Amino acid sequence: MRVVILGSGRGSNAEAILLAQQAGRLGAARVVQILADKPEAGILALGARFGVPAKFVDPAPFRTKLEGEGEARFIAAVRQAQPDLVVLAGFMRVLKAGFLGAFAGKIINLHPSLLPAFPGLDGIGQALRAGVKETGCTVHEVTMDVDAGRILEQARVPIEPGETLDSLAAKVHAAEHKLLPMVIARLSHGEK
Ligand code: GAR
Repeated sequence: MRVVILGSGRGSNAEAILLAQQAGRLGAARVVQILADKPEAGILALGARFGVPAKFVDPAPFRTKLEGEGEARFIAAVRQAQPDLVVLAGFMRVLKAGFLGAFAGKIINLHPSLLPAFPGLDGIGQALRAGVKETGCTVHEVTMDVDAGRILEQARVPIEPGETLDSLAAKVHAAEHKLLPMVIARLSHGEK
């Protein structure tokens, strides 16, 4: 199963996927391409480290969504890698009909909350400010409705008294690093 990873940031989840692959824990999946919408994204450095092609693709003209010329460039770059699965690992843009249609049924996203709670930006901060006793992370299918596609798997994280944004973020990220490679391995074995 050919996997393309899209990201915008430091790439700790992409790293977890690649470490799982190295350790033989990614099932029949293998990462064939990493793409970022920011030239300075840490995720791009993983390419050289793990021997996977990695490149910046210009997402212009929009700031928070992928549409128009930027969308066309991303569609072309992803298509070239012939993916069976497109993994959004910290890709901080809303995908639109063009991209979703080009890779229909093949796109999954990682979100740092127990969806449907706290969709959108800053899922970890939202949960902390809401005062809930538990949050977590979700891997779900990507559809036109932001953060609302079918949920594939979730992991729970307790919020302790005195929890800070930093301490909670560390716990959620640790849960994400286990959850996402596990779901990819499962999908690679044909599980839905
Ligand atoms: C992750 O926590 C992921 O859940 C979040 O961005 C972070 C990326 O970290 N994604 C979203 O908030 C999507 N709405 P990483 O670059 O270290 O993998």
